[in-house]
Amino acid sequence: MTEFISKIRTIQWIDTYSRMVDQTLFPYEFKYVDIKTGQEMYDAIKNMIVRGAPAIGIAGAHGVVLYAQELKNLNREDFIKKLLEKADYMATSRPTAVNLMWAVEKQKEIIKNSNSNVNGIIEELKQNAIKLENEDIEINKKIGDYGAQIVPEGATILTHCNAGALATVGYGTALGVVRSAFAKDPTVKVFADETRPRQQGARITTLELTMDGIPTTLITDGMCSYFMKKGMINLVVVGADRIAANGDTANKIGTYTVAIAAKYHNIPFYVAAPLSTIDTKIKSGDEIPIEERSHEEVTHINGKSICAKGVNIINPGFDVTPHELITGIITEAGILKPDFNKSIAEAFS
Ligand code: MRU
Repeated sequence: MTEFISKIRTIQWIDTYSRMVDQTLFPYEFKYVDIKTGQEMYDAIKNMIVRGAPAIGIAGAHGVVLYAQELKNLNREDFIKKLLEKADYMATSRPTAVNLMWAVEKQKEIIKNSNSNVNGIIEELKQNAIKLENEDIEINKKIGDYGAQIVPEGATILTHCNAGALATVGYGTALGVVRSAFAKDPTVKVFADETRPRQQGARITTLELTMDGIPTTLITDGMCSYFMKKGMINLVVVGADRIAANGDTANKIGTYTVAIAAKYHNIPFYVAAPLSTIDTKIKSGDEIPIEERSHEEVTHINGKSICAKGVNIINPGFDVTPHELITGIITEAGILKPDFNKSIAEAFS
């Protein structure tokens, strides 16, 4: 099983289309789905067939190639104009994870700067998407190696949502840290928050870690302070969807609560993310757009209503953890420490 998860590619460009693991089916089925048009990719991102900030970044890059293929019969000028519009549309498929906008922007730079004809531009976009894919795994392994250095011997690590191989092209960010730490010290263990309402922790994190043979205990979101007080959690490591220039970090809803509990109990709270998750254009977390998702995610479980009809619902998909609660940000360039304004600026210089 370990072999399986370490070899997995959550998303991969194949010749003329994108192949991805359908994340809506976990933990019941493991199935690949082939995405062959730009609109199919937009829908796959929006409906979370592919999810996790780094994975949807790559999906966005693939989406631009799909649109380029569809527009290949236009003359060069119209092709570029139309494709840039389609790229902008692709970038709106989800609002919070900045990796999506980052990867689409990388493709737009090629469209704007290439001297090639239409077929040449399509080939360059394809090669760039494959390059970003491969780099994602290399970056995650670096994050894992840096992160493993801060994991105490025999530690129990709490994580929230899924920031694993299945949220990236492979290996994972927060779970990359877990994997690298476990490879060095097999007494490392994980507590995984269930992560209401989409249950990525229960459905995906426990699946990934169990497949890798890493001892994992599933808890519901409200239980973390109980176990922290008992001294059963040594460290928190979570992923991120967007990090502002001052270190404020948007991640799955519930992360902020975990960070407050960790601060109260003097437990280090780390964020693990590639530099592509850092949005240096925004000064603080107040500027991060928070996705509001379907109310049914809250009112229903497995298609069945769990609450009174007509009750009011609000369902933000993410929250922002203020930088004061963050011990460090583990990136491929090393572990960034407060003052984050300074350490983030240095990482980009
Ligand atoms: O809504 P999702 O499942 O795409 O959100 C992903 C997250 O928020 C994860 O917690 C993750 O840490 C960021 S992606 C590595």
